[in-house]
Amino acid sequence: MSPVVIIAIVVAVIIVVAVIASRLSSMPSAPKALAASTWTVTEVVKETPTTVSFGVDATVDFQPGQFVLLRPNASLPWRAYSFSRAPGQPLRLTVKRVENGKVSTHLTSQLTAGDKLEVKGPFGQFVLPAIVTKALFIAGGSGITPFLSWLHTLDGRGWPFAITFIIGNRSAQEQILKAELDALQQKSQGKLTCVHVTDDVQGPLTKELLGSLLEKVDVPSFIAMCGPEPMMNNARELATAKFPGVTVLEEKFSASPEVVGAGPGTTLELMQDGKVKPFEVKQGEHVLAAARRAGYDLPSGCEMGACGACRVKLIEGDIQIPDDACLSDAEKGQGYRLICVGSAKGKARFESSP
Ligand SMILES: Cc1cc2nc3c(=O)[nH]c(=O)nc-3n(C[C@H](O)[C@H](O)[C@H](O)COP(=O)(O)OP(=O)(O)OC[C@H]3O[C@@H](n4cnc5c(N)ncnc54)[C@H](O)[C@@H]3O)c2cc1C
Ligand code: FES
Repeated sequence: MSPVVIIAIVVAVIIVVAVIASRLSSMPSAPKALAASTWTVTEVVKETPTTVSFGVDATVDFQPGQFVLLRPNASLPWRAYSFSRAPGQPLRLTVKRVENGKVSTHLTSQLTAGDKLEVKGPFGQFVLPAIVTKALFIAGGSGITPFLSWLHTLDGRGWPFAITFIIGNRSAQEQILKAELDALQQKSQGKLTCVHVTDDVQGPLTKELLGSLLEKVDVPSFIAMCGPEPMMNNARELATAKFPGVTVLEEKFSASPEVVGAGPGTTLELMQDGKVKPFEVKQGEHVLAAARRAGYDLPSGCEMGACGACRVKLIEGDIQIPDDACLSDAEKGQGYRLICVGSAKGKARFESSP
């Protein structure tokens, strides 16, 4: 064989290997195994009358803005809580009590140093994009936590871009980690501008109030928002209308109401362990809830479209998911869906944990 032919064969092999490698590396990874670990609480700090921060004895490899699922004991449900410091700093979670909240009430009123917590994760897509030139952040109440993780990270990077940060709380007393935010603003030397709004002074972050605050904001290249659902709905509507085309990243801290489903259903097929498992899902009902009703065991985490633990892959048909569910466009394009918030209008077949 001539040297030219040999070189051509070697080049062709290298190209094929490179193409296969790039395909494999661009494939979304399967959901993380949901093995739980145990953390021991090291200290609990009261931040406001309804909020505590606590440290734990663990080390976790997470990205700023990510969260873990935790429960104080097996009689309580799993809930998501975001890290409120940057990777590399001592781990800290900050929890605000919600009225009649099962887990947040336990954590804010009963947690003490030495307590054990069951934990899964980290999870989450609320992470800073690689390129930002000017940012607008909007947080309500406990929605400050992932932003604190971002801000500590940006502080470590020397504040690479300017940020306007609108922060809503019920009252001055309820402002979470305000002194820490003031210190970060001071250190940023003009890069971070915090605009604090409290219900008892300016009134709640209504469309009118938020709209008037946005009037004073320069066009950002990136918008991020986090907090309870009503605030997020207002913020999304206003920000997208005022700054069309700007990338918006959202993290909703409260679950959408459970959809019970009504009207005629449709049959879905779950492919699991080499078997076809049919079950009925009612119109509007979440697929995970319907599968459970039929007795099928499927992995899940947050059950609000935020962690990706319930991801499935479509084989036929479709499962509709809300826009703010944590799947990238590429994953959706490849047929991945989140069944904790997904519903079906017609027949579909899917496989679990591909
Ligand atoms: C990705 C993610 C990250 C989160 N990170 C944090 C965090 O860092 N700190 C934090 O304090 N919380 C955080 N949350 C919210 C947290 O997971 C729980 O939803 C919250 O603590 C309430 O749980 P609970 O068991 O006490 O209330 P539940 O018993 O579930 O609910 C009681 C009542 O409160 C309502 N409710 C539930 N959640 C909220 C809410 N957030 N605001 C207002 N009303 C609510 C419910 O609709 C219900 O009526 C996060 C949520 C998500 C999805
Ligand atoms: S369980 Fe978290 S996205 Fe479905």
